[in-house]
Amino acid sequence: MKEEIIVKAINLTKIYNGNVKAVDNISFEVKKGEIFGLLGPNGAGKTTTIKMLTTVIRPTSGTAYISEYDILKDASKVRRLISVVPQEFTADEDLTGYENLILTADLYGIPREIARKRANELLELVELKEAANRKVETYSGGMRRRLELACGLINRPVLLFLDEPTLGLDVQTRYAIWQYVKKIKDEYEMTIFLSTHYLEEADSLCNRIAIIDHGKIVRIGSPEELKKALGGDIIEIKINDEVSDISEYIYSVPGVKDVKRLNSTYRIKAISGEEVAPLIFEILRQKGYIIKSVSISKPTLDEAYLEITGRRLREEQASFEEIMSFRRTIRRTRA
Ligand SMILES: Nc1ncnc2c1ncn2[C@@H]1O[C@H](COP(=O)(O)OP(=O)(O)O)[C@@H](O)[C@H]1O
Ligand SMILES: [Mg+2]
Repeated sequence: MKEEIIVKAINLTKIYNGNVKAVDNISFEVKKGEIFGLLGPNGAGKTTTIKMLTTVIRPTSGTAYISEYDILKDASKVRRLISVVPQEFTADEDLTGYENLILTADLYGIPREIARKRANELLELVELKEAANRKVETYSGGMRRRLELACGLINRPVLLFLDEPTLGLDVQTRYAIWQYVKKIKDEYEMTIFLSTHYLEEADSLCNRIAIIDHGKIVRIGSPEELKKALGGDIIEIKINDEVSDISEYIYSVPGVKDVKRLNSTYRIKAISGEEVAPLIFEILRQKGYIIKSVSISKPTLDEAYLEITGRRLREEQASFEEIMSFRRTIRRTRA
């Protein structure tokens, strides 16, 4: 079966105020049924990309197709296929969760009867049934996000955009949201386009990731493919001999790419650790060495990101958390 393309961005560019190049000539495709992630630090151009794809803002140049519809020429048809959960909180705090869903359904012109049915079904899905008739102002951050996910589904979109779905949430709540996103994808067989600056989120949720930096896409691939950018797994072997250098023997094994020795410990880079390690054991056994310890580690997306962009995402994440806590402090001071 031919893979269906649901998003096709062609040289998409956004320049704000004639000088801020927020998105710089990006092209990519999203396949039907995948969770596609736009991964990058704060200010990379994620929200701007989502705003263009969802017809909220017009690209400066380039365009994109959502299914067969051009975002420039067929904006209203595009809007019928999609839904977006924006980065900023949008639900009405003075209404209940249920009322928010009905209100959203009204905006889409969904008949009341169907709206009620869907609202109940969605409240069940995101486990907000108990809290359905409570005002949203009493909801926790995680509950709010769940409600917004539900609101994003009320029009049964073919393609759902989530802009930083777990921004500012604690780790545990973030994990819970991931479960809902996976459930949504499976139960509604939809395509999800999400942006994030959390590596773990991209790694755990996405079938494919586009790394965006300074408005440019620097790499696209599955988490596995991106990790392969590192050049393979790391096998660490300790043998019973401090004196002889057995690097030569290890190098002779097919699939071994690099060997570094520190006394009796060897750090070996190999395409596939699981396949190469037994071959190394065998040759060392033949040569009469005893292996005292072994470990195989897979490269993480964290390391891959560093290799691809030359920077860690972690540091920026930390500083962002600081900004968030700073904002909260200001708010408290004002209140
Ligand atoms: N309305 C705007 N006017 C001017 N500059 C903007 C506007 N929105 C975003 N930017 C700038 O565009 C760049 C990308 O922003 P954004 O798309 O929000 O990034 P991200 O969502 O990845 O954090 C940043 O430099 C940001 O300051
Ligand atoms: Mg953003």
